[in-house]
Amino acid sequence: MKMQKFLLTEQEMPRKWYNIMADMPTPMEPPLHPGTGQPCGPEDLAPIFPMNLIEQEMSTQQWIDIPEEILDKYAIWRPSPLFRARNLEKALDTPARIYFKNEGVSPAGSHKPNTALAQAYYNKVAGTKKITTETGAGQWGSSLAMCCSFFGIECKVFMVKISYNQKPYRRLMMETWGANCTASPSTETKAGRSILEKDPDSPGSLGMAISEAVEEAVADENTKYALGSVLNHVMIHQSIIGLEALKQMEMAGDYPDVIIGSAGGGSNFAGLAFPFARDKINGKQIDIIAVEPTSCPTMTRGPFAYDFGDTVQMTPLLPMHTLGHNFVPAPIHAGGLRYHGMAPLVSQLILDGIIRPEAIHQLETFKAGITFARSEGYISAPECNHAVAMTIREALKAKEEGKEKVILFNWSGHGLVDMASYESYFRGNLADHDLPQEQIDAALKDLETLPKPRQGK
Ligand SMILES: Cc1ncc(COP(=O)(O)O)c(C=O)c1O
Repeated sequence: MKMQKFLLTEQEMPRKWYNIMADMPTPMEPPLHPGTGQPCGPEDLAPIFPMNLIEQEMSTQQWIDIPEEILDKYAIWRPSPLFRARNLEKALDTPARIYFKNEGVSPAGSHKPNTALAQAYYNKVAGTKKITTETGAGQWGSSLAMCCSFFGIECKVFMVKISYNQKPYRRLMMETWGANCTASPSTETKAGRSILEKDPDSPGSLGMAISEAVEEAVADENTKYALGSVLNHVMIHQSIIGLEALKQMEMAGDYPDVIIGSAGGGSNFAGLAFPFARDKINGKQIDIIAVEPTSCPTMTRGPFAYDFGDTVQMTPLLPMHTLGHNFVPAPIHAGGLRYHGMAPLVSQLILDGIIRPEAIHQLETFKAGITFARSEGYISAPECNHAVAMTIREALKAKEEGKEKVILFNWSGHGLVDMASYESYFRGNLADHDLPQEQIDAALKDLETLPKPRQGK
């Protein structure tokens, strides 16, 4: 029988995370203080994050030890399996060899616990009593809720209103793990009230929910804020995905020509891709593709600029591809991909030609997810379907070209709690959203007065 699963034991789990900051072809530009516009020092971030995570955020150390307590809990779901998608290959009749890393095996159903666990642990060590956060589809909020419960920390989640209504089960998962979940924009914070005053029917956005979570964190010294993507320390924690995949691809006797991940804030993509990007920086030929929705085209249509991470301008300014902090994307079902910015590390590697961004329409992603489900069985989260759709495009291209390409993609999460979105697709209630340039230009106007990065366009 042919091998389909490449499995590592707990003993083979990586003991260090990889930090690509040490290998960046172009040095990163610093985050800037939202008030002064000057580079942020560790003390500027201290009201929001514990110092041990701030140190990681600023670290240029290539390898960072994973504490034993984190390894013990990682072992609940890690190492995650790598699969050869032989059934999908057959269904597509492609000469490509397709592999996927299954991050849907975590108890919360996605890659998000890889960093939620680390962030809850470092907060616990620093004495934090409560963590606030935002969530889109609920994958991040539920992951943080679970990991806070492991360490006895209170958890408060502001969930983007459109997803709060579309995805009641994730809200209930958060409750099961003991978190308090509120629809955002809410009347609980000044930020939420100011947004509702202007637009009482606002569907919410990740930028708005971040403003609410940060406001609540800075109001109390025992409360900190956690972000599920975008920041450097999140990319570090997620590197465990790619480090495992490097070993597993070796077990399979293959090395990827193409690496694919969906990208909302960039964390699952970076988690898989960065350990391989290191090889590319050192001369390997790999096509590394980050996939976003055409309705929130941060990387493919947003400039590289300094921008706030949130709507009401409380977070530091980050150098990143952005659509502007006031951009509100169409209410597509891939809630986790509806973010106006992209991780600075991913953004810089796009400028450096290491990563290639692509955008895909919603309907193609669902069609791809169904092809995947009917061949491999697994039902993907709508975010993850973006990676599946790009994989299918690449596999069909390999067929056209008659090439035996090796494709590796990150299956970032299952969609078993997202079936309402599949229902909308089956009933013909989903549409592709064309985003007019005027809407992007209007949102980008808010960046005109902000400082510009060296490579800003
Ligand atoms: C399953 C899944 N994949 C991908 C994403 C996108 O986030 P990121 O780009 O940080 O991986 C999310 C976000 O919620 C998600 O839940």
